[in-house]
Amino acid sequence: MAEYICVFNKDTLIIKPSKKSPLFLRTIVLLFAMVCGVYICTICRKQISTVAKMNIQVIGSPAPDTNIAAQLQPQIPTLHYPKPKTFSRGECTQNPVRFFVILSMQRSGSGWFETLLNSHINVSSNGEIFSVRERRKNISTIIQTLEKVYNLDWLNSASKNECSAAVGFKWMLNQGLMAHHEEIVEYFKHRGISSIFLFRRNLLRRMVSVLANSYDRHAKLLNGTHKSHVHSHQEAAALSSYKPVINSKSLISDLNEVEWATVKALEYFNSTRHIVLYYEDLVMNHTKLKDVQEFLGIPKMELTSRQVKIHKGLLSDFVKNWDDVNRTLSGTEYESFLRDDY
Ligand SMILES: *[C@@H]1O[C@H](CO)[C@@H](O)[C@H](O)[C@H]1NC(C)=O
Ligand SMILES: *[C@@H]1O[C@H](CO)[C@@H](O)[C@H](O)[C@H]1NC(C)=O
Ligand SMILES: *[C@@H]1O[C@H](CO)[C@@H](O)[C@H](O)[C@H]1NC(C)=O
Ligand SMILES: *[C@@H]1O[C@H](CO)[C@@H](O)[C@H](O)[C@H]1NC(C)=O
Ligand SMILES: *[C@@H]1O[C@H](CO)[C@@H](O)[C@H](O)[C@H]1NC(C)=O
Ligand SMILES: *[C@@H]1O[C@H](CO)[C@@H](O)[C@H](O)[C@H]1NC(C)=O
Repeated sequence: MAEYICVFNKDTLIIKPSKKSPLFLRTIVLLFAMVCGVYICTICRKQISTVAKMNIQVIGSPAPDTNIAAQLQPQIPTLHYPKPKTFSRGECTQNPVRFFVILSMQRSGSGWFETLLNSHINVSSNGEIFSVRERRKNISTIIQTLEKVYNLDWLNSASKNECSAAVGFKWMLNQGLMAHHEEIVEYFKHRGISSIFLFRRNLLRRMVSVLANSYDRHAKLLNGTHKSHVHSHQEAAALSSYKPVINSKSLISDLNEVEWATVKALEYFNSTRHIVLYYEDLVMNHTKLKDVQEFLGIPKMELTSRQVKIHKGLLSDFVKNWDDVNRTLSGTEYESFLRDDY
């Protein structure tokens, strides 16, 4: 952009006929060049700081021991040809498979996102496999589990076996991921696994969702069954009828803590090949799903999900002590959370 402006300025200089002396003209050109230089510098610095601040669209360099193509072009995922023990890949033995992982937090839209991915004919995302404590007991049980998933031997309803072109699962930050980050990063780099970060910007909405979901675990508002995700507006309305009370005393530090966890996760995993997505952007902008498919290197398809958003509308309608919460966050860095739609 800065370049265009400079070229444009030069052009106008050349086009404009001038009767002034060559020395005067040269001085003007020199001045313009200087102004241009300073301008470019400011623009660049602004862009760099914005990118650093927002932590978006960062694609890290792959590990030294992943394949050459990926080293030369970090935008291309590493291709694999797994040989599963449990079945034969049949006609698709020669089709390459990409490995991915969705790194996220509870109540950040990852369940919805995963149903979207799984609506792709060639994607198998195997759910929250480390929600089972045994599997994340120590780094060896973690690696064993990962090996099984990426060897396509993890069988569940999401598995599309023979013709999967991308296989992965979702992993919550608090499921051993942060605790064993060093070994896991090594594994990801060694095995050429691409990370999809999925975070939610509005951490207050996330908190309401966490509280409501945790309440429903016991209350079971839907005819005696607990549901974390729903498929109809009636069910959504039933679940959102419960208004949690937010602890306004610890609210700021609770939000801080969640924010800190996301920053840490990005820092730990920034040397793996990755993309950073925000739930709010996915909701607002469906081309983001094209970005994801491009990132995974799979044929682009229209992705669909039957899931219905639970807390839709003003957040003030879903919190019992709203005035309290409003007072606590007004004038802080989190103020926008009070108003934002998603
Ligand atoms: C990890 O846990 C498994 C299962 O309990 C156990 O057999 C194994 O010895 C443990 N490994 C390490 C390195 O602690
Ligand atoms: C996707 O799946 C279809 C149907 O199973 C298969 O024919 C096709 O080859 C797969 N595409 C890729 C890129 O693996
Ligand atoms: C509860 O069950 C009744 C009767 O089966 C059904 O009509 C109603 O839709 C259900 N409600 C919810 C919230 O699932
Ligand atoms: C990863 O994060 C650390 C700490 O913020 C930083 O020093 C390093 O340069 C980052 N690496 C990449 C590849 O972005
Ligand atoms: C939607 O996402 C695409 C791809 O990330 C981006 O180029 C575009 O600017 C976004 N549109 C809006 C309206 O934010
Ligand atoms: C928060 O409180 C202020 C002052 O009472 C009020 O003007 C504002 O509308 C409230 N904001 C929200 C989002 O409810």
